[in-house]
Amino acid sequence: MSESLYQQANESPDKTFEQSLRPPGFEDFQGQEKVTDRLMLMVEAAQRRDDVLEHILLSGPPGLGKTTLANIIANATGTQLHTTSGPQIEKAGDLAGILTNIQKGDILFIDEIHRLHPAIEEYLYPAMEDYRLDIIIDSGPSARTIQLNLPKFTLVGATTRAGMLTSPLRSRFGLVNRLDYYTAKQLAGIILRSAGLLDVSIKPDGAEEIASRSRGTPRIANNLLRWVRDYAQVRADGTITGPIANDALAMIEIDNDGLDEMDKRILEAAIYKFNGGPVGLSTLAVAIGEDASTLEEVHEPFLIMQGFLKRTPRGRVALPAAYTKIGATPNPNQQELL
Ligand SMILES: Nc1ncnc2c1ncn2[C@@H]1O[C@H](COP(=O)(O)OP(=O)(O)OP(=O)(O)O)[C@@H](O)[C@H]1O
Ligand SMILES: [Mg+2]
Repeated sequence: MSESLYQQANESPDKTFEQSLRPPGFEDFQGQEKVTDRLMLMVEAAQRRDDVLEHILLSGPPGLGKTTLANIIANATGTQLHTTSGPQIEKAGDLAGILTNIQKGDILFIDEIHRLHPAIEEYLYPAMEDYRLDIIIDSGPSARTIQLNLPKFTLVGATTRAGMLTSPLRSRFGLVNRLDYYTAKQLAGIILRSAGLLDVSIKPDGAEEIASRSRGTPRIANNLLRWVRDYAQVRADGTITGPIANDALAMIEIDNDGLDEMDKRILEAAIYKFNGGPVGLSTLAVAIGEDASTLEEVHEPFLIMQGFLKRTPRGRVALPAAYTKIGATPNPNQQELL
Protein backbone atom coordinates (compact mmCIF):
# COMPACT_ATOMS: atom_id res chain seq x y z
CA MET A 1 0.00 0.00 0.00
CA SER A 2 2.64 2.52 1.01
CA GLU A 3 4.65 1.56 -2.05
CA SER A 4 1.78 2.40 -4.34
CA LEU A 5 1.08 5.67 -2.58
CA TYR A 6 4.68 6.65 -3.01
CA GLN A 7 4.62 5.59 -6.58
CA GLN A 8 1.91 8.16 -7.00
CA ALA A 9 3.84 10.65 -4.97
CA ASN A 10 6.83 10.41 -7.22
CA GLU A 11 5.31 9.81 -10.58
CA SER A 12 2.00 11.61 -10.39
CA PRO A 13 -0.06 9.36 -12.68
CA ASP A 14 -3.27 10.95 -11.47
CA LYS A 15 -3.20 14.08 -13.55
CA THR A 16 -6.71 15.29 -12.89
CA PHE A 17 -6.29 15.11 -9.13
CA GLU A 18 -3.02 17.06 -9.39
CA GLN A 19 -4.41 19.62 -11.75
CA SER A 20 -7.43 20.27 -9.61
CA LEU A 21 -5.16 21.21 -6.73
CA ARG A 22 -2.64 23.20 -8.71
CA PRO A 23 -2.57 26.85 -7.62
CA PRO A 24 -3.33 29.01 -10.68
CA GLY A 25 -1.54 32.17 -9.52
CA PHE A 26 1.38 33.35 -7.41
CA GLU A 27 -1.01 34.41 -4.64
CA ASP A 28 -2.11 30.78 -4.05
CA PHE A 29 1.37 29.33 -4.31
CA GLN A 30 2.71 28.93 -0.79
CA GLY A 31 6.39 28.85 0.17
CA GLN A 32 9.49 29.14 -2.07
CA GLU A 33 9.39 32.91 -1.51
CA LYS A 34 12.85 33.52 -2.89
CA VAL A 35 11.93 31.94 -6.19
CA THR A 36 8.43 33.40 -6.45
CA ASP A 37 9.67 36.91 -5.53
CA ARG A 38 12.19 36.72 -8.35
CA LEU A 39 9.69 35.37 -10.84
CA MET A 40 7.09 37.99 -9.98
CA LEU A 41 9.71 40.69 -10.40
CA MET A 42 10.74 39.32 -13.78
CA VAL A 43 7.12 39.15 -14.91
CA GLU A 44 6.51 42.73 -13.83
CA ALA A 45 9.69 44.02 -15.45
CA ALA A 46 8.87 42.31 -18.73
CA GLN A 47 5.36 43.71 -18.65
CA ARG A 48 6.60 47.25 -18.00
CA ARG A 49 9.01 47.02 -20.90
CA ASP A 50 6.34 45.33 -22.94
CA ASP A 51 8.90 42.66 -23.60
CA VAL A 52 9.03 38.88 -23.48
CA LEU A 53 10.14 37.17 -20.27
CA GLU A 54 13.70 35.86 -20.13
CA HIS A 55 14.31 32.11 -20.18
CA ILE A 56 13.86 30.48 -16.81
CA LEU A 57 15.31 27.32 -15.30
CA LEU A 58 13.56 25.62 -12.38
CA SER A 59 15.31 22.85 -10.52
CA GLY A 60 14.56 20.68 -7.52
CA PRO A 61 13.31 17.27 -6.40
CA PRO A 62 10.02 15.86 -7.77
CA GLY A 63 6.73 17.25 -6.56
CA LEU A 64 7.92 20.63 -5.28
CA GLY A 65 6.06 22.74 -7.83
CA LYS A 66 8.12 23.15 -11.01
CA THR A 67 5.28 22.35 -13.41
CA THR A 68 2.92 24.37 -11.24
CA LEU A 69 5.20 27.41 -11.49
CA ALA A 70 5.46 27.08 -15.27
CA ASN A 71 1.66 27.23 -15.42
CA ILE A 72 1.57 30.18 -13.05
CA ILE A 73 4.10 32.09 -15.17
CA ALA A 74 1.96 31.57 -18.26
CA ASN A 75 -1.17 32.68 -16.38
CA ALA A 76 0.59 35.74 -14.97
CA THR A 77 1.83 36.84 -18.37
CA GLY A 78 -1.42 35.97 -20.10
CA THR A 79 0.38 33.76 -22.58
CA GLN A 80 -0.02 30.20 -23.69
CA LEU A 81 1.97 27.33 -22.25
CA HIS A 82 3.28 24.69 -24.66
CA THR A 83 4.45 21.64 -22.77
CA THR A 84 6.93 19.01 -23.81
CA SER A 85 9.81 17.12 -22.21
CA GLY A 86 13.44 16.39 -22.95
CA PRO A 87 13.02 12.75 -23.98
CA GLN A 88 9.90 13.56 -26.06
CA ILE A 89 11.85 15.68 -28.56
CA GLU A 90 13.56 13.05 -30.65
CA LYS A 91 14.32 14.87 -33.87
CA ALA A 92 15.05 18.44 -34.88
CA GLY A 93 11.74 18.32 -36.71
CA ASP A 94 9.88 17.73 -33.43
CA LEU A 95 11.40 20.90 -32.04
CA ALA A 96 10.69 22.83 -35.21
CA GLY A 97 7.09 21.64 -35.07
CA ILE A 98 6.64 22.97 -31.57
CA LEU A 99 8.48 26.24 -32.12
CA THR A 100 6.68 27.15 -35.29
CA ASN A 101 3.36 26.90 -33.47
CA ILE A 102 4.37 29.42 -30.87
CA GLN A 103 3.09 32.99 -30.67
CA LYS A 104 5.09 35.94 -29.47
CA GLY A 105 5.54 35.81 -25.70
CA ASP A 106 4.36 32.22 -25.30
CA ILE A 107 6.01 29.86 -22.86
CA LEU A 108 7.68 26.68 -24.05
CA PHE A 109 7.92 24.40 -21.03
CA ILE A 110 10.50 21.64 -21.38
CA ASP A 111 10.27 19.22 -18.48
CA GLU A 112 13.25 16.99 -17.67
CA ILE A 113 15.38 19.30 -19.74
CA HIS A 114 18.54 17.50 -18.61
CA ARG A 115 17.39 14.57 -20.76
CA LEU A 116 17.37 16.47 -24.05
CA HIS A 117 19.33 14.75 -26.79
CA PRO A 118 22.66 16.53 -27.34
CA ALA A 119 21.83 17.12 -31.03
CA ILE A 120 18.56 18.81 -30.07
CA GLU A 121 20.37 20.98 -27.58
CA GLU A 122 22.47 22.35 -30.44
CA TYR A 123 19.30 23.40 -32.25
CA LEU A 124 17.97 25.00 -29.14
CA TYR A 125 20.89 27.39 -28.60
CA PRO A 126 20.19 29.77 -31.52
CA ALA A 127 16.47 29.45 -30.81
CA MET A 128 17.05 30.67 -27.26
CA GLU A 129 19.57 33.35 -28.14
CA ASP A 130 18.43 34.78 -31.45
CA TYR A 131 14.97 33.24 -31.88
CA ARG A 132 16.22 31.45 -34.93
CA LEU A 133 16.15 27.84 -35.96
CA ASP A 134 18.75 26.52 -38.39
CA ILE A 135 17.34 23.48 -40.06
CA ILE A 136 19.43 21.25 -42.27
CA ILE A 137 17.50 19.78 -45.14
CA ASP A 138 18.66 16.96 -47.37
CA SER A 139 22.02 15.33 -46.86
CA GLY A 140 25.23 14.85 -48.78
CA PRO A 141 26.15 17.42 -51.46
CA SER A 142 22.63 18.86 -51.69
CA ALA A 143 22.40 19.53 -47.94
CA ARG A 144 21.58 23.09 -47.05
CA THR A 145 20.60 25.01 -44.00
CA ILE A 146 17.47 27.03 -43.94
CA GLN A 147 16.91 29.64 -41.31
CA LEU A 148 13.58 29.95 -39.67
CA ASN A 149 12.82 33.09 -37.71
CA LEU A 150 10.81 32.48 -34.61
CA PRO A 151 8.67 34.81 -32.54
CA LYS A 152 10.26 35.87 -29.27
CA PHE A 153 9.30 33.24 -26.72
CA THR A 154 10.26 32.18 -23.21
CA LEU A 155 11.76 28.81 -22.50
CA VAL A 156 10.98 27.47 -19.06
CA GLY A 157 13.09 24.42 -18.33
CA ALA A 158 12.51 22.11 -15.39
CA THR A 159 14.95 19.57 -14.04
CA THR A 160 15.34 17.32 -11.05
CA ARG A 161 19.07 17.21 -11.82
CA ALA A 162 20.48 20.69 -12.38
CA GLY A 163 23.95 19.17 -12.13
CA MET A 164 23.33 17.10 -15.25
CA LEU A 165 22.65 20.08 -17.49
CA THR A 166 25.44 20.78 -19.93
CA SER A 167 27.17 24.06 -19.22
CA PRO A 168 26.33 25.64 -22.59
CA LEU A 169 22.65 25.01 -21.93
CA ARG A 170 22.78 26.16 -18.35
CA SER A 171 24.59 29.36 -19.32
CA ARG A 172 21.75 30.29 -21.63
CA PHE A 173 19.42 30.67 -18.72
CA GLY A 174 19.67 33.78 -16.59
CA LEU A 175 19.24 32.23 -13.17
CA VAL A 176 18.85 28.75 -11.78
CA ASN A 177 15.79 28.85 -9.56
CA ARG A 178 16.23 26.08 -7.06
CA LEU A 179 13.17 24.88 -5.19
CA ASP A 180 13.75 23.61 -1.66
CA TYR A 181 11.75 21.23 0.47
CA TYR A 182 8.85 22.95 2.23
CA THR A 183 8.59 23.41 5.97
CA ALA A 184 5.88 21.51 7.84
CA LYS A 185 4.10 24.81 8.44
CA GLN A 186 3.97 25.64 4.73
CA LEU A 187 2.77 22.13 3.95
CA ALA A 188 0.03 22.41 6.56
CA GLY A 189 -1.12 25.54 4.74
CA ILE A 190 -1.11 23.70 1.41
CA ILE A 191 -3.05 20.79 2.93
CA LEU A 192 -5.70 23.13 4.35
CA ARG A 193 -6.06 24.77 0.94
CA SER A 194 -6.36 21.39 -0.81
CA ALA A 195 -8.86 20.15 1.78
CA GLY A 196 -10.95 23.23 1.06
CA LEU A 197 -10.90 22.51 -2.67
CA LEU A 198 -11.77 18.85 -2.10
CA ASP A 199 -14.48 19.78 0.39
CA VAL A 200 -12.88 17.71 3.12
CA SER A 201 -13.41 18.58 6.76
CA ILE A 202 -10.07 18.88 8.55
CA LYS A 203 -8.83 20.26 11.88
CA PRO A 204 -5.55 22.18 12.11
CA ASP A 205 -3.89 19.33 14.05
CA GLY A 206 -4.93 16.93 11.30
CA ALA A 207 -3.22 19.11 8.70
CA GLU A 208 -0.11 19.39 10.88
CA GLU A 209 0.06 15.63 11.34
CA ILE A 210 -0.06 15.01 7.59
CA ALA A 211 2.35 17.89 6.91
CA SER A 212 5.04 16.58 9.24
CA ARG A 213 5.05 13.27 7.38
CA SER A 214 5.05 14.58 3.83
CA ARG A 215 8.82 14.76 3.30
CA GLY A 216 8.72 18.44 2.61
CA THR A 217 6.82 17.76 -0.63
CA PRO A 218 3.41 19.20 -1.62
CA ARG A 219 2.65 16.34 -4.01
CA ILE A 220 3.10 13.83 -1.18
CA ALA A 221 1.08 16.05 1.17
CA ASN A 222 -1.83 16.04 -1.29
CA ASN A 223 -1.62 12.30 -1.85
CA LEU A 224 -1.49 11.56 1.87
CA LEU A 225 -4.42 13.90 2.39
CA ARG A 226 -6.42 11.86 -0.08
CA TRP A 227 -5.63 8.65 1.76
CA VAL A 228 -6.41 10.13 5.17
CA ARG A 229 -9.69 11.50 3.82
CA ASP A 230 -10.73 7.99 2.76
CA TYR A 231 -9.69 6.61 6.12
CA ALA A 232 -11.61 9.30 8.03
CA GLN A 233 -14.70 8.54 5.97
CA VAL A 234 -14.65 4.82 6.62
CA ARG A 235 -13.23 4.63 10.12
CA ALA A 236 -14.52 7.87 11.64
CA ASP A 237 -17.08 10.60 10.99
CA GLY A 238 -15.25 12.03 7.99
CA THR A 239 -13.39 14.79 9.81
CA ILE A 240 -9.60 14.61 9.75
CA THR A 241 -8.14 15.21 13.21
CA GLY A 242 -4.58 14.70 14.44
CA PRO A 243 -5.28 11.24 15.92
CA ILE A 244 -7.22 10.13 12.83
CA ALA A 245 -4.37 11.25 10.55
CA ASN A 246 -1.91 9.44 12.79
CA ASP A 247 -3.86 6.16 12.61
CA ALA A 248 -4.40 6.49 8.88
CA LEU A 249 -0.70 7.04 8.19
CA ALA A 250 0.32 4.25 10.54
CA MET A 251 -1.85 1.92 8.45
CA ILE A 252 0.26 2.67 5.37
CA GLU A 253 3.49 2.51 7.36
CA ILE A 254 4.59 6.08 7.02
CA ASP A 255 6.48 6.96 10.16
CA ASN A 256 6.68 10.18 12.17
CA ASP A 257 9.40 11.62 9.99
CA GLY A 258 7.62 10.71 6.79
CA LEU A 259 9.99 7.85 6.04
CA ASP A 260 8.42 5.01 4.11
CA GLU A 261 9.46 1.40 3.66
CA MET A 262 11.90 2.19 0.89
CA ASP A 263 13.66 4.83 2.99
CA LYS A 264 14.01 2.42 5.84
CA ARG A 265 15.29 -0.25 3.50
CA ILE A 266 17.96 2.16 2.30
CA LEU A 267 19.09 2.98 5.83
CA GLU A 268 19.01 -0.68 6.89
CA ALA A 269 21.07 -1.74 3.89
CA ALA A 270 23.64 1.00 4.48
CA ILE A 271 23.94 0.02 8.14
CA TYR A 272 23.63 -3.76 8.13
CA LYS A 273 24.98 -4.76 4.73
CA PHE A 274 27.70 -2.16 4.37
CA ASN A 275 28.59 -1.50 7.96
CA GLY A 276 27.28 2.04 7.78
CA GLY A 277 29.23 2.88 4.64
CA PRO A 278 30.83 4.46 2.81
CA VAL A 279 28.99 2.57 0.10
CA GLY A 280 28.74 3.57 -3.55
CA LEU A 281 25.39 4.70 -4.91
CA SER A 282 25.05 1.90 -7.45
CA THR A 283 26.04 -0.80 -4.93
CA LEU A 284 23.46 0.50 -2.49
CA ALA A 285 20.84 0.66 -5.26
CA VAL A 286 21.42 -2.99 -6.19
CA ALA A 287 21.20 -4.03 -2.54
CA ILE A 288 17.74 -2.51 -2.16
CA GLY A 289 16.52 -3.47 -5.62
CA GLU A 290 15.99 0.11 -6.75
CA ASP A 291 17.21 1.94 -9.77
CA ALA A 292 20.26 4.13 -9.00
CA SER A 293 18.81 7.32 -10.43
CA THR A 294 15.53 6.92 -8.50
CA LEU A 295 17.56 6.37 -5.36
CA GLU A 296 19.60 9.48 -6.08
CA GLU A 297 16.81 11.78 -7.24
CA VAL A 298 13.86 10.70 -5.16
CA HIS A 299 14.91 9.09 -1.91
CA GLU A 300 18.35 10.34 -1.11
CA PRO A 301 17.86 14.14 -1.12
CA PHE A 302 15.32 13.88 1.69
CA LEU A 303 17.41 11.44 3.74
CA ILE A 304 20.39 13.77 3.36
CA MET A 305 18.39 16.85 4.21
CA GLN A 306 17.05 15.17 7.35
CA GLY A 307 20.53 14.14 8.47
CA PHE A 308 20.15 10.37 8.03
CA LEU A 309 22.66 9.98 5.22
CA LYS A 310 25.71 11.84 4.04
CA ARG A 311 27.36 11.93 0.64
CA THR A 312 31.14 11.59 0.82
CA PRO A 313 33.67 11.25 -2.00
CA ARG A 314 33.91 7.53 -1.16
CA GLY A 315 30.18 6.90 -1.05
CA ARG A 316 27.14 7.18 1.17
CA VAL A 317 27.57 7.07 4.94
CA ALA A 318 24.81 6.41 7.49
CA LEU A 319 24.72 9.12 10.17
CA PRO A 320 23.87 8.58 13.86
CA ALA A 321 20.22 9.56 13.26
CA ALA A 322 19.94 6.61 10.86
CA TYR A 323 21.10 4.20 13.58
CA THR A 324 18.56 5.65 16.00
CA LYS A 325 15.82 5.38 13.39
CA ILE A 326 16.58 1.74 12.64
CA GLY A 327 17.35 0.91 16.28
CA ALA A 328 20.89 -0.22 15.49
CA THR A 329 24.09 0.38 17.49
CA PRO A 330 26.54 2.65 15.73
CA ASN A 331 29.72 1.00 14.59
CA PRO A 332 32.60 2.59 16.54
CA ASN A 333 35.03 2.54 13.58
CA GLN A 334 32.44 4.22 11.51
CA GLN A 335 32.12 7.13 13.91
CA GLU A 336 35.71 8.10 13.12
CA LEU A 337 34.79 8.43 9.49
CA LEU A 338 32.34 11.13 10.37
N1 LIG B 1 3.67 25.87 -3.44
C1 LIG B 1 2.60 25.08 -3.65
N2 LIG B 1 1.41 25.40 -3.13
C2 LIG B 1 0.36 24.59 -3.32
N3 LIG B 1 0.40 23.43 -4.00
C3 LIG B 1 1.57 23.07 -4.53
C4 LIG B 1 2.73 23.88 -4.40
N4 LIG B 1 3.74 23.27 -5.04
C5 LIG B 1 3.25 22.14 -5.55
N5 LIG B 1 1.95 22.00 -5.25
C6 LIG B 1 1.08 20.87 -5.58
O1 LIG B 1 1.90 19.71 -5.69
C7 LIG B 1 1.62 18.99 -6.88
C8 LIG B 1 2.92 18.67 -7.57
O2 LIG B 1 3.52 19.85 -8.06
P1 LIG B 1 4.24 19.89 -9.49
O3 LIG B 1 3.58 18.94 -10.42
O4 LIG B 1 4.31 21.30 -9.90
O5 LIG B 1 5.68 19.35 -9.11
P2 LIG B 1 6.98 19.20 -10.03
O6 LIG B 1 8.07 19.93 -9.30
O7 LIG B 1 6.67 19.62 -11.40
O8 LIG B 1 7.27 17.65 -9.96
P3 LIG B 1 8.02 16.69 -11.04
O9 LIG B 1 9.49 16.95 -10.90
O10 LIG B 1 7.67 15.31 -10.60
O11 LIG B 1 7.48 17.04 -12.40
C9 LIG B 1 0.67 19.85 -7.70
O12 LIG B 1 -0.52 19.17 -7.86
C10 LIG B 1 0.38 21.08 -6.88
O13 LIG B 1 -0.97 21.15 -6.63
MG1 LIG C 1 6.50 18.47 -13.15
